[in-house]
Amino acid sequence: MYRSHTCGELRLDHCGQEVLLAGWVQRSRDLGGMTFVDLRDRYGITQLVFNMEENSSLCEMARSLGREYVISARGLVRERSNKNPKLPTGDIELQVLELKILNESETPPFTIEDDSDGGEELRMQYRYLDLRRGVLQKKILLRHRLAAASRNYLDSKGFLEIETPYLIKSTPEGARDFVVPSRMNPGEFYALPQSPQTFKQLLMVSGYDRYFQIVRCFRDEDLRADRQPEFTQIDCEMAFVEQEDILNSFEGLTRHLIKEVRGVELSDFPRMDYQTAMQKYGSDKPDIRFGMEFVDCAPHAKGHGFKIFDEAEAVLGIVAKGCAEYSRKQLDALTDWVKRPQIGAKGLVYVKYLGESSVKSSVDKFYSPEALEAWCKAAGADHGDLLLVLSGSLASTRKQLGELRLHMGRDLGLRDPNTFAPLWVVDFPLLEWDDESGRFHAMHHPFTSPKMEDIALLDSSPGDARANAYDLVINGVEIGGGSIRIFDRSLQSRMFEILGFSAEEAQAQFGFLMNAFEYGAPPHGGIAFGFDRLCALLGGSESIRDYIAFPKNNSGRDVMIDAPSPLDGAQLEELSIALRKKS
Ligand code: AMO
Repeated sequence: MYRSHTCGELRLDHCGQEVLLAGWVQRSRDLGGMTFVDLRDRYGITQLVFNMEENSSLCEMARSLGREYVISARGLVRERSNKNPKLPTGDIELQVLELKILNESETPPFTIEDDSDGGEELRMQYRYLDLRRGVLQKKILLRHRLAAASRNYLDSKGFLEIETPYLIKSTPEGARDFVVPSRMNPGEFYALPQSPQTFKQLLMVSGYDRYFQIVRCFRDEDLRADRQPEFTQIDCEMAFVEQEDILNSFEGLTRHLIKEVRGVELSDFPRMDYQTAMQKYGSDKPDIRFGMEFVDCAPHAKGHGFKIFDEAEAVLGIVAKGCAEYSRKQLDALTDWVKRPQIGAKGLVYVKYLGESSVKSSVDKFYSPEALEAWCKAAGADHGDLLLVLSGSLASTRKQLGELRLHMGRDLGLRDPNTFAPLWVVDFPLLEWDDESGRFHAMHHPFTSPKMEDIALLDSSPGDARANAYDLVINGVEIGGGSIRIFDRSLQSRMFEILGFSAEEAQAQFGFLMNAFEYGAPPHGGIAFGFDRLCALLGGSESIRDYIAFPKNNSGRDVMIDAPSPLDGAQLEELSIALRKKS
């Protein structure tokens, strides 16, 4: 037996008991007559005490312990004279009677503490040590809790968890596929699924009318804080449902998870159509924890001889409450911020509404004080507010101002991570035009149904057709997305045609799905939540990496196992892959 209790559970009422603990040495302090060792496992830290006078050899042994040694200690629980209110076990300590070193450890390359001294790259390289840190263990635990709560909830609603294959044929979801060569089929490749999309639809045809899976998805795309090449979805599909049924079901799941993990009761899930979201926030995933909605400034900005505004397609602004006193330095910093290449604005115009008949602006010379004041009033600014204005093409101005809005929201403390503001964004466009390829792409994916009332638009003006598609956005993060699917073969064929597939190409890639639609496909639809994003949101972080036990870095590498890596010639030959010689 290695342990009778964990390092997190002993309290005053255990005093007098003989117990056995096992774990890692967090640190040891030698105070001459006494040696203290903090023993850590994933449940907590318990202080071990060794007394030179009582047992000198045991005390010597304790002094020899290095950081991260694995030990077990038998001893008596006793009340501490010097209590530590910061530790749940801080009222007690273990007076050690017997000590075993189960394994020694090299000195770890960084401190295994919440505030580690190790840099990101080093910690990734020794991820197994990083994962010993309490902060990370809490995150991994939260992920487990969320997965367990999701499974329980979906099971209670009659959803079946069904696994779908990882070695499949490419599913077009907008990213590149990771591919796997097939040894037995020389020159042919599997693709790893970007999502189980087609399989879950086939399961509906098979009659499993409520499916879910907590499933790994693979996408070869550029990485960011909220994107990993392999990530996890809570993937769901339902038959005999309309959009409303799906939104209600997954509102239920979201409420349940947030209640379960954060103890927060969500009130309503407002809905906003895509066009409104773009118009008010310049984003299809607006953070509605705060207002600062866009104001169309064109009527007041144009026609005063300021060429940049006069020539712009759009002049849009936001009102930053109480910021009229911003200093020159603060405004310059904001201007630099919007001019960074990631944002790409050419400049920033401000109008300070200092008080009645008192305005100050970066474009004073083009506008009379009366014109500026009228502009502030029309924008809904009060005395003391700051109007920030960007201009340019409609699409880029919306995007830039959307970023500035989030930046200001953060600076002004309006984005409290303990507040959850869910929002359904609905009525997405079905298609988006891609200049590069000169054709339409499906905005969600090609299996998404157009709104029935917009079907006629597919012939006259496909770009205006709306989809039966929806996203769940919480605090500005796209947590999930889904749609009602096409279940009619001829409409699906028409959709592939609009997307530029020839009949042969569509048959070769998606014949299996279209054939299945010939055998009694029910109406169906579904959604997938980004599970890692949900974990990060509920854990209060922006990066999903800490919620993934073994994540990749920004170049898609696992620096711990050093992957990806080259294959040797024999292996490549077996896979019928010829490497192009470097010239
Ligand atoms: P979609 O492509 O919108 O839909 O993906 C669903 C959700 O998955 C998350 N997500 C990611 N998370 C981390 N890293 C990534 N690289 C990444 N890409 C996506 C997002 C997103 O909202 N098959 C459809 C769902 C359906 O129609 O039912 C799909 O995959 O949170």
